[in-house]
Amino acid sequence: MRAEVVTYKTSELAETFMVKESSINDYLTSQNIIIKEGGRISERDYQTVIDFVETQEKRIERALQKRKSEFTSKDKTVSIYQDDAISFLKKLPSNSVDVIVTDPAYSGMNNMLQLGEGRIVGKYADKGGDQGKWFSEFEDSEENYAAFLIECKRVLKRSTGHIYIMFDSYSLLSLGGIVRKYLDVKNLITWDKVNMGMGHYFRRRHEYILFATNGNKRKVKTKNIPDVWRFKRIHNSAYPTQKPVEVFQAMLYASAEPGFVVCDPFLGSASAAIAAMKSKCRFIGCDISDKSIQVAAKRIERFAQTGNDPLQPSSAVTVEGTFWE
Ligand SMILES: C[S@@+](CC[C@H](N)C(=O)[O-])C[C@H]1O[C@@H](n2cnc3c(N)ncnc32)[C@H](O)[C@@H]1O
Repeated sequence: MRAEVVTYKTSELAETFMVKESSINDYLTSQNIIIKEGGRISERDYQTVIDFVETQEKRIERALQKRKSEFTSKDKTVSIYQDDAISFLKKLPSNSVDVIVTDPAYSGMNNMLQLGEGRIVGKYADKGGDQGKWFSEFEDSEENYAAFLIECKRVLKRSTGHIYIMFDSYSLLSLGGIVRKYLDVKNLITWDKVNMGMGHYFRRRHEYILFATNGNKRKVKTKNIPDVWRFKRIHNSAYPTQKPVEVFQAMLYASAEPGFVVCDPFLGSASAAIAAMKSKCRFIGCDISDKSIQVAAKRIERFAQTGNDPLQPSSAVTVEGTFWE
């Protein structure tokens, strides 16, 4: 039996990658590739299309143009949107983001942890509206989480795609394994927060960061970065669960080049956006909550104007220093 030959239609590729079909066709012709009947190309030529679309920088802007950002920095390198993470990712073209860095608001920890009255974000209850919570949690059933990972994989660039997903111990136990079904998991990094937080038996002092690629062989910047990162937690943060910018800077030091497109679909107070700006990357992000968008927009604008971060005035770096300076 002869194996069926896989072919691709350039009109469908144009739709998936959100570029004009005529641009794909012109490029293929310039590479002396013959487009067959019905606008079809072979699997081998498909890679040429991928190489081409990855150089088309304006695809994300065009895709998102249909809806106005809640905030875009003056130099247009940072844009944030109010949206659900999966719905936002679905609006992005395939193969368009270099690095995803994200810290989802998992519901599992609160739902499954039967340890008394305390809720993780309870300290902030008086500031919040929705049942005493400042922000809603991402429903982290296996189906919903898989839908999220599928979208992450789709939007990550084939050649450069790296992803960092933050987990507390509980969400790692329930969701970490699912990541392996969709992405090529390379490391589990421990973020040591230096100072202890709350805890019913042992007090929590760490979180995890799962690092994966979407199957490409791109390495991180150097082989000298350890898998335990020490940065002080933020005390009395303006936004609940606000992470130190340095945690995201560490991810971007390892995985980003200036000009790369970085995305955080669980933006919170925009610590990842500030890290992207410090790393000279472009940034797109979203959050479902009004409060996040308000806080994030102000923070990004202020940082862009003054170079000062109003939500994290002091460094989270310990005496050990960072591995990027
Ligand atoms: C753990 S916080 C992120 C904190 C952020 N890394 C920082 O440093 O400020 C998670 C965020 O996810 C947002 N969120 C919850 N469900 C969401 C959803 N379905 N889509 C997008 N954002 C969501 C919450 O509003 C919250 O701001």
